[in-house]
Amino acid sequence: MRYAHITGWGKYLPQRIMTNDDLARIVDTSDAWIRERTGIRMRHIAADHETTASMSTAAAMAALDRAGVSPNELDLIIVATATPDHIFPATACLVQDALGADRAGAFDLSAACSGFVYALSVAADRIRAGSANTVLVIGAETLSRIINWNDRSTCVLFGDGAGAVVLQGSDQPGGVLSTLLRSDGGGGDLLIVPAGGCKMPLTPEVLSKRLNTLHMNGREVYRFASRVLDRAAREVMHKAGWTSDQVDLFVPHQANLRIIESAARALNIPMEKVFCNIEHYGNTSAASVPIALAEAAESGRLRPRDRVVIVGFGAGLTWAAAAIEWSEPHAMRRSRWVLSRVSYGLAGVRSRARRLLRRVEDRLFGAGEQAPATHPHKNGVTEERKEPVAPAPDRRSN
Ligand SMILES: CC(C)(COP(=O)(O)OP(=O)(O)OC[C@H]1O[C@@H](n2cnc3c(N)ncnc32)[C@H](O)[C@@H]1OP(=O)(O)O)[C@@H](O)C(=O)NCCC(=O)NCCS
Repeated sequence: MRYAHITGWGKYLPQRIMTNDDLARIVDTSDAWIRERTGIRMRHIAADHETTASMSTAAAMAALDRAGVSPNELDLIIVATATPDHIFPATACLVQDALGADRAGAFDLSAACSGFVYALSVAADRIRAGSANTVLVIGAETLSRIINWNDRSTCVLFGDGAGAVVLQGSDQPGGVLSTLLRSDGGGGDLLIVPAGGCKMPLTPEVLSKRLNTLHMNGREVYRFASRVLDRAAREVMHKAGWTSDQVDLFVPHQANLRIIESAARALNIPMEKVFCNIEHYGNTSAASVPIALAEAAESGRLRPRDRVVIVGFGAGLTWAAAAIEWSEPHAMRRSRWVLSRVSYGLAGVRSRARRLLRRVEDRLFGAGEQAPATHPHKNGVTEERKEPVAPAPDRRSN
């Protein structure tokens, strides 16, 4: 029987910090209100040059180092994000290219704040099924780019960052032991970015109404989160054959300290066994659980064989949980670390060389290979193709 072990972890937080007092200079709020209602003191905000892909890559390199795995050993890369660099290509493909992970498949997973736990479950299942052995799972967000900075009810809650883990197959029992994935699309409008997809393309009118930013019904989302968090944790503990007093660390999605505390009470887990870093980072959506795991492991709060329960919840609505027996990292030797740096440098060179080669090939042979700019007429005679007319944007509201 195969088991999926977490053998490496890493995180990346942008340098720029925005405190509650900084926010109080932008919108009508206060440090006291934000701390009392959410537990948040500050959040990290991506610099202009940083993106979900660049932060993912930095977190991934740290996780690969910790696992002692080189990028060309990866079979699959999954990036869980609600803020991809583009609609396509997938952010995971950009990470694959930046790492030079030439043997890996790559795709993004969209399940908002539950995304990392969803992705971990998919990765663990592929490993257990024998179709992959080494998988990189990343949760990363640049939420600062989809926030309405004039809306005090949402802009105080979120932050940017990335976390990553490496999962590896082994016959040794342990690792990801049970998972749960759930959704309730009926609550989709409670937490939504209405525009930017095919239903509401971006138009000047849409942009002026800020429909391309995050909209939330805070009270309803609070109620939903309080309902599902402890239930999901209980279900994965049950599947893993654990009772709540056997859990060493509970790592919930960091959305609101009050939600976390009430779930811990409901589960009968003392707060000493609950990992909270929301005060430093705010809600980083899909990045929150992997950042918390990396921090817990780095600070010694997670040790090999510890029993850890993770839970995510968020837009969709979605929620997900996993029971994990923590594994020993395979520390990377110094020589291998140096080699991996060289290989990351080469990955960049190789990527640029491939792009250049594609452009040269296109110049030399492109015209001959292109589909003719004509199409067969119904009577068999070809005629010049007209430019396709883009469908008029649907201006109906949601
Ligand atoms: C957003 C949240 C903190 C609001 O807390 P709350 O106690 O429910 O506050 P309410 O929405 O009832 O608002 C109370 C008052 O504070 C005001 N308020 C809202 N945001 C404020 C802010 N940043 N600063 C000061 N006042 C604020 C409201 O306007 C309201 O004023 P009113 O009573 O005069 O109308 C809370 O609902 C929450 O955490 N929800 C879950 C959000 C979440 O986790 N989302 C992500 C899930 S992945």
